[in-house]
Amino acid sequence: MVMWAGRFKKDIDKRTNDFNSSISFDQRLYKQDINGSIAHATMLGKCGIIAENESKKIIAGLKQILEDLETGKLDFDDNAEDIHMFVEEELTKRIGDSGKRLHTARSRNDQVALDLRLYMRDEIDVVIGLLKELIIEFINQADKHYDTIMPGYTHLQRAQPITLSHYFMAYVEMFKRDILRLKDAVKRMNINPLGSCALAGTTYNIDRYMTSELLGFDEPCLNSLDGVSDRDYVIEVASALSIIMMHLSRISEEFVLWSSHEFKFIELDDAFSTGSSIMPQKKNPDITELIRGKCGRVYGDLISILTMMKALPLAYDKDMQEDKEAIFDALDNVKMCLYTFIPMFASTTFLKENMLQASKKGFINATDAADYLVKKGLPFREAYKIVGSVVAYAIDNNKTLDILTIQEYKKFSELFEEDIYQYIDLKKAVGDRNVIGGPAPLTVKQHIEKIKQFLANEC
Ligand code: ARG
Repeated sequence: MVMWAGRFKKDIDKRTNDFNSSISFDQRLYKQDINGSIAHATMLGKCGIIAENESKKIIAGLKQILEDLETGKLDFDDNAEDIHMFVEEELTKRIGDSGKRLHTARSRNDQVALDLRLYMRDEIDVVIGLLKELIIEFINQADKHYDTIMPGYTHLQRAQPITLSHYFMAYVEMFKRDILRLKDAVKRMNINPLGSCALAGTTYNIDRYMTSELLGFDEPCLNSLDGVSDRDYVIEVASALSIIMMHLSRISEEFVLWSSHEFKFIELDDAFSTGSSIMPQKKNPDITELIRGKCGRVYGDLISILTMMKALPLAYDKDMQEDKEAIFDALDNVKMCLYTFIPMFASTTFLKENMLQASKKGFINATDAADYLVKKGLPFREAYKIVGSVVAYAIDNNKTLDILTIQEYKKFSELFEEDIYQYIDLKKAVGDRNVIGGPAPLTVKQHIEKIKQFLANEC
C-alpha cells in the first residue's frame, strides 16, 4: 500500500510506480535526506510540535538507518517511490507510530529541495578540491618552464613568442574563475527551503532559523513558493560545470594536437595513453579526446535542466524530478575528468627543443622587428609594411629573420643596424614583454605568487 492510500481506492499500477519512481537515482541523496530529517525532527521536538521523546526516538531510528545503509546491512527498496518515502517507511517499520510524526510540517517538495542543496554543497567542495589540485599541478609545471620558449598562436598560426609557463598560467586563470563561479553559486544556494512545506508554508509554529543553523544554511528562504520550485542553483552549478568542461576541452584539444607528430610538443606518459588494436606504432591521446567528448554531454545536462524548467508553473511540478539525473551526470563527469586529467597532465613530458624549433620557424619575432623600427622613429604602420616585405623576402629565399644579413635588411630600410639581431632574439622578445600579464619570466613568477595567495585565502 502506498503512503497516500487514504485517498485512493486502488493500489498503484506497477507500470505507474516504475515510471514515477526516482529511487534508482535519488538513493544517492540518502545521507542528506537523513541529516535533513534529523534536523527537522530536532526542531519539531524543541518547538513542542511533537513530544521530545518521540523526537529522540525518530533521531535514533534515523541514525540507525544511516549506519545500516552505510555498512550494507540495509538495501534500498526498488519499489519505493523515492529516497524520501523509503527512509520514512523504513523508519516507521522500525520505530512504529513515532515514525509517522516525522513528516509533520514538511512535504517532500521542501524535502527534495533541501536534499539537493545539501548534496550539491558537498559535491561542490569536492570539485573545488580537484580544481585546486589541478591548479597546483599547473603551477608546478609553470615553475619549470619560465624559459621554455614556444610559439603563441592566433588562428592556430604561429603569432608571437611566449613561454610554456605563460601558457599554463592562462589555464590557471580559467580554473581560478571556475572555483570562484562555484563559490558564488553556493552563496545563493545556501538558503534553507525547509519550512516551505508543499508550497504555502505551515500553520505549525516551526523554527526555520533553527533548522537553518543545524544544517549550516545562511538563512531560511523568504518565499515558500520559490522555496519549493526554485532550481536556479542547479542550473547555475550545471553552467559552472559546463564552463569547467569547456576549459578542460580546450586544453585537451591542444594536447591532442601537441602529441601529434606534426607538432610533437609533448610526449604523453604511457600510463595515460592507449594503443591501437591494428596499428602497432600508435599511441593515442584517448583521455583528452574523451574529455573533449564529455564536454558535449555536460552541456547536454545543462540544456536538459534549462529546458525542463522552462514554462513550469509555480510551484512544484513532477517535471522537476528530472533535474537529478542531469546534475548528477554533470557532477560525476566533471569529477571523473578532473580526476584523470590531473595525473595525466602531471606525467606529461614537454619537449622544449621542439617548441623552440617551431618558434624559430614561424617568423614569430616579426612584430619585434617592426617594434625595432618604431623605436628608431618610424610610425608603426610603415614599420609593419617594411617588415612584411622582409618576411616575404625571407620566405622566398628560404631564410629566417635571424639569418638574414645586415645588407639584406638594409635593402628594406636604412634604419636597420647590427642591433636588430638582439631585438629579434626570442629570449629577449619574451623577456621584454614584462607588462602585467605578459610572458616575461619575472611577470609570470609574480602571477604564480598571486595564485598561491588565492589558493591560501580562497580554498
Ligand atoms: N522524487 C520527487 C522529486 O525528485 C520528490 C518530490 C515529490 N513530490 C511530489 N509532490 N510528488 O522531485
